[in-house]
Amino acid sequence: MVHQKVFVIDFGGQYSQLIVRRVRELGVYSEMIAWTEAEAKLATCERPSAIILSGGPRSVLEGQAPSLPMECLKGIPTLGICYGMQLLAHSLGGQVEKADDREYGKRELNVTKPGSLVGGLTQAQVWMSHGDQVLQAPPGFDTIASTESCPVAAIENRAQNTYGVQFHPEVSHTPEGKTILRRFLFDRCGLHGDWTSESFIEDSIELIRQEVGDKRVLCAVSGGVDSSVMAALMSRALGDQVTCVFVNHGLLRKNEAEQVIEAFSSYFQPRLVVIDARNEFFAALKGVTDPEAKRKIIGAEFVRAFEAHADDLKGCDFLAQGTLYPDVIESGSATAAKIKTHHNVGGLPDWMRLRVIEPLRWLFKDEVRSVGKNLGLPEEMVEREPFPGPGLAVRILGEVTPERVAIVQDADWIFRSELRSRGLHRGIWQSYAALLDVKSVGVMGDERTYQQPIVLRAVQSEDAMTAQAVALPFPALEEIAHRIVNEVQGVNRVLYDLTSKPPATIEWE
Ligand code: XMP
Repeated sequence: MVHQKVFVIDFGGQYSQLIVRRVRELGVYSEMIAWTEAEAKLATCERPSAIILSGGPRSVLEGQAPSLPMECLKGIPTLGICYGMQLLAHSLGGQVEKADDREYGKRELNVTKPGSLVGGLTQAQVWMSHGDQVLQAPPGFDTIASTESCPVAAIENRAQNTYGVQFHPEVSHTPEGKTILRRFLFDRCGLHGDWTSESFIEDSIELIRQEVGDKRVLCAVSGGVDSSVMAALMSRALGDQVTCVFVNHGLLRKNEAEQVIEAFSSYFQPRLVVIDARNEFFAALKGVTDPEAKRKIIGAEFVRAFEAHADDLKGCDFLAQGTLYPDVIESGSATAAKIKTHHNVGGLPDWMRLRVIEPLRWLFKDEVRSVGKNLGLPEEMVEREPFPGPGLAVRILGEVTPERVAIVQDADWIFRSELRSRGLHRGIWQSYAALLDVKSVGVMGDERTYQQPIVLRAVQSEDAMTAQAVALPFPALEEIAHRIVNEVQGVNRVLYDLTSKPPATIEWE
């Protein structure tokens, strides 16, 4: 089935993927494309039903600034946000001025044209984050809103179905942002929201069958939500052409390998093959301390383990992975800065022979959960906390050894079971213990200790792109810290990480 589709053209804005999310939350399929690829894609692909131009860090007044793909203006309804609006204004004969200072924060929006895209809002607060601003709307456009410091805060040209807003309707600090997006998509573009989990499943099954034909597929499963949902989808599409492979790399949480094997045997028709590669992973990681080097090694070791298995199987052509959209984005695109190499995207070695298939690479986590529920997976599998592919290796700073893994596993077990028994786990996106590679002095039973600290981290998040530390009650933290230093050998200090993402990331490496 062909769905109505919205392209978000990304000019490097920090909220570009959030725009995609918001559009999808409204039931309209949306994809982000880099501005550098937009012209070609719009000319050759099936044309989208609407276009949203994202914000971005550049100024339209600089030479070489990202430009407006002219295909946009050929009859496709368009909404420019922030840089996107400035670009529309600049390209269509309006005036943009260079600002001396950046305007950042909440502002009151004053709607100057009732019945317009922003007309009739009940809550007029909007979120601004911009340097330049539009001084004069282009010919044919009306100015439909202003703020105290931004006289042209929104523009529209009904005849051309083209709009611009200087503020960010996609962020939660603009309480009626979704109303504006809904109005653009449904009232102005006439879309009807035909994208659901069910339709995603139907389409994916068709695409997977087309791509794979009668070949065989290895599904790399970790026990996490993404790979479980991916495996269920692949099994639904291909039946016994699928074999699930679980690599026990020794970097899982305490007792987790056993739990995964148990769960998979109960819920999946295809064969589950367990590869015990603990020795190989520990040998490859010996002496390695650099985070990116660890990720690359782990990515390569995974593939080596799969390939060894593929040879036994004879005729496995595909490797299916549970890569998600944020993994793809954060592994670096034409416009986004590279933050970390997510091992299942950027870390695969060149010699890999299996073709990769990633049926979830366009989905966000909450969408994957909803697909999982629709595929009939049990609640406890679908609602599991995310766990990184490189496992505890990215929570052990410095060298990864079996002894240090055991320390993290024990501390993590205490932390998470205490949260659960106190009912504090609800609403937490991820909670874990990490081990630092410094030592500090302590005293225990009249003896001096010189041992490593454990860091506890619990965050709330909507999609892992941003996160905040959870305000856990101090008495609970104190009790957990007490248990960890008493029960886990080699730890004499416990810290709680208060940092949000950004500027930190969720994992320590
Ligand atoms: P960060 O640390 O980048 O993590 O804020 C964002 C989310 O991604 C998970 N994560 C990974 N998942 N492979 C994965 O499959 C990886 O290499 C990886 N690194 C981080 C992390 O647990 C969080 O949910």
